[in-house]
Amino acid sequence: MEHKNHASFTSSLGFILTAAGSAVGVGNIWRFPYLAAKDGGGLFLLVYLGLVLTFGFTLLTTDIAIGRRTGQNAWHAFGSIRPRWGFLGKLTFLVPAIIMTYYAVIGGWILKYAVVYLCGQRTQAAQDGYFLEFITSSVSPIVFLLIFLAITAFVVYAGVEKGIEKFSKVVMPILLLMIVGTGIYALTLRHTDGSGVTRTGLQGLVVYLIPDFTGLTFSKFLSILLDAMGQLFFSLSVSMGIMITYGSYVKKDVSLEKSIAQVEFFDTGVALLAGMMIIPSIFVFSGTEGMTAGPSLMFQSLPKVFASMGAAGTLVGAAFFVMVLFAALTSCVSIMETLVSTVMQIFRADRKKVSLVIGILSAVAAVIVCMGYNVLYFEYTLPNGQTAQLLDVMDYISNNFLMPLIAFLTAIFVGWVIKPQWITEEMEVQGARFGKKRFYAVMVRWVVPVIMAILFFQSTGLLAKAAAFFAPAGTVI
Ligand code: PHE
Repeated sequence: MEHKNHASFTSSLGFILTAAGSAVGVGNIWRFPYLAAKDGGGLFLLVYLGLVLTFGFTLLTTDIAIGRRTGQNAWHAFGSIRPRWGFLGKLTFLVPAIIMTYYAVIGGWILKYAVVYLCGQRTQAAQDGYFLEFITSSVSPIVFLLIFLAITAFVVYAGVEKGIEKFSKVVMPILLLMIVGTGIYALTLRHTDGSGVTRTGLQGLVVYLIPDFTGLTFSKFLSILLDAMGQLFFSLSVSMGIMITYGSYVKKDVSLEKSIAQVEFFDTGVALLAGMMIIPSIFVFSGTEGMTAGPSLMFQSLPKVFASMGAAGTLVGAAFFVMVLFAALTSCVSIMETLVSTVMQIFRADRKKVSLVIGILSAVAAVIVCMGYNVLYFEYTLPNGQTAQLLDVMDYISNNFLMPLIAFLTAIFVGWVIKPQWITEEMEVQGARFGKKRFYAVMVRWVVPVIMAILFFQSTGLLAKAAAFFAPAGTVI
């Protein structure tokens, strides 16, 4: 079945902005900082940066080149190259479907904080336990998530992405400025806790930037690597089909290598700066113990920073959460759009009907995930040591388990079945330069499959069990 996508971006800027709009979202502002904090700051940062330049580059290049060369979305792209590999396109569809179940829950949290600040409740929001009380309550988080989801579904239903994209061109730069401003302010913070210990923002910056290798074991390193890799997939929106679809919209005269580098730079820049805003401030107010807070980190640390600004904090807080809301919305729209456009093609159904059905299914799933903090509460220890509730389990399945698997299969497919040359030709179409050609080939044939296979087993917890089994008694792995 041939389904050529005829829509295309008018310029490389249009492509970069749309890809960045999907890429920059809660992954950068909420997920990156909490993982970096949990994994000890500097060390995570170092690993992550290394991964962006190697794996991020390889995976993004692969997705976008496959999309442009086939002119298909992910569902059909692999099968159109080799019918036997069609299953891979179908597998990638699972990822946005799973992410959809919890992205709106976080969107709802952000919406709630935007409303709280717009209502001037800066001091209440900064109290210990405020966030926990909110997410564990039975009605309020569900209401906020439903509103967030309804806005997302409406945008997809009405097909007005272009409208919010225009809007996000204005919002994104302002959000960036605010993150930088708040980050610099966070460095000037100083706080003395109950036990008389004073901590400063600059000390927090050191924790964030300087890697600390003390007590690092091999298995701990693998677990950091897995966290960083999962974050890379999530943040760049790779290995889940979205970038393949975007690639299919890019015109042949756009230099892919350059555009890809720009998307990577932008996405990573926002994440690094968000970390600079959040990690020093959580360190100042809660010390290193506070850094393991997990998903609640941003919602606990930032309100304290805003509260310390006095009355201006209400304004800054409101503006901040409203903008993060837009970043979350553009990403969530890109996830739902992928689901809707694929289902539309499969069933040859119209946009309105499909949006309605997907919207309702997403709402049911998101409400269940949201209740994971309330009636469906449980504590499960993930193989990476994190105590997880339903939301974290879904997040782990998509980012740490499914995506390494998809990346592994894609690398085998490109590296060994169709050969890297197939991608290289697309990158060099119309005389474009692909400077990292050799590097790409080595990555996709050897490095990606090997590391992904290791990480896949690590994510199932099997690797740690095997290591413990084979290690001589008493060894610290
Ligand atoms: N990359 C987005 C973010 O950082 C999330 C996302 C995941 C978007 C998957 C699309 C697909 O928030």
